[in-house]
Amino acid sequence: MARCSMSDPSHLFSPAAFANVRKPLREAETLPTWCYTSPDFHRREIERIFKPAWRLVGREDEFAGAGAFRTIDTFAGPVLVVRGDDGRLRAFLNSCRHRGAQLLDGQGRCGAIVCPYHAWKYGLDGSLLGAPAMDKSLGFDKRGNGLIAARLETWGGFVFVNASRDAPDRRIGPLLEAWGDLPEVLGPYRFGEMVLVRRIDFDVACNWKLLTENAMEEYHTGTVHRVSLGQQQGEAVATRGDWDALFIRQDTTIALMTGETSPFPFVAGLPERHRSGTFFTMIYPSLQLACTQDCMWYLDFQPAGPERTKVTVGFCFPRATVARPDFAAVVERYYARWETSIGEDNAIGEVQQKGMRAEARPPGRLSWKEHHVHKLANWVLDRVLDPPAAGRRAAE
Ligand code: FES
Ligand SMILES: [Fe+2]
Repeated sequence: MARCSMSDPSHLFSPAAFANVRKPLREAETLPTWCYTSPDFHRREIERIFKPAWRLVGREDEFAGAGAFRTIDTFAGPVLVVRGDDGRLRAFLNSCRHRGAQLLDGQGRCGAIVCPYHAWKYGLDGSLLGAPAMDKSLGFDKRGNGLIAARLETWGGFVFVNASRDAPDRRIGPLLEAWGDLPEVLGPYRFGEMVLVRRIDFDVACNWKLLTENAMEEYHTGTVHRVSLGQQQGEAVATRGDWDALFIRQDTTIALMTGETSPFPFVAGLPERHRSGTFFTMIYPSLQLACTQDCMWYLDFQPAGPERTKVTVGFCFPRATVARPDFAAVVERYYARWETSIGEDNAIGEVQQKGMRAEARPPGRLSWKEHHVHKLANWVLDRVLDPPAAGRRAAE
């Protein structure tokens, strides 16, 4: 392991410093400490990983009716998503065409989008409807001054946006381009027929990779979730594309505390494999879809600094389950389980971050149970280090 100092940023991206991360799992070490603490390493991740990435905004059913909107600060700038009078969801840069003021904030409903600065008014389709005192500006044409569209795509009821521009060395492909066989493997859960029943945001004092790694290994469950979930046994699932999966065999829902049972039915039509356990998946870089027999929940880990992460969690059930008369009472047990286990994971992430501040700490060794930790580390290095010196990671 090459020695590397935080006070010498030129070494932070030296391939030699990562030689042991690149080795096969049984010989490999973890990423060095600075990958979890350094502002320079963080900036590189934002530029090369998060800025061009599709960003989850929420679920389609959160935009009920014309004028329903939500704003989101992506790494490529502020974006607003609004449902039009024609029922279509659209995304725009959340920036006025006049002098750039942010147009909307938070979420809500509007009949039109009116700039808070000089009151230029835009329709829900982004067209400029009114611009006071622009009548003497030569050649000014309202038709050429509508809002700038950002890309928006939906899949399984999820709404994603991308406000990044294609650069000569970076083409932003369609949402599903990098997802490989994910739609095929997770299709049977019919996410599009599910309803979001609760959404929670957390601000966690640790690097995004600590939470993402933790979400894809069950090695910690016997200690961190000893009382709530107990020890789980996972199997790595072979995937194609920029996603990953861990399968936990258990023939009842995993979304309850250990030993509890539920009256909720399985998702209709689930194949045998899906009925026998739970898929914990990670869409790279940092969106987890946890798919169990009777529901799905997602965790979106967005970096808010080298040592801070914004975690958004959403819980979804099939529409028919939500319509049950006992839903409101029974779902409380699911909420209790999620709030406990997610709280335990967030807390251990903060404990780990504190330890990561020991600058002299050398990288650690990995267990065979940490396949996904190793895979994510190499995926990040493939993007953060400069080619061709970065090379390709060793075969696993
Ligand atoms: S900046 Fe929006 S109307 Fe002036
Ligand atoms: Fe956990």
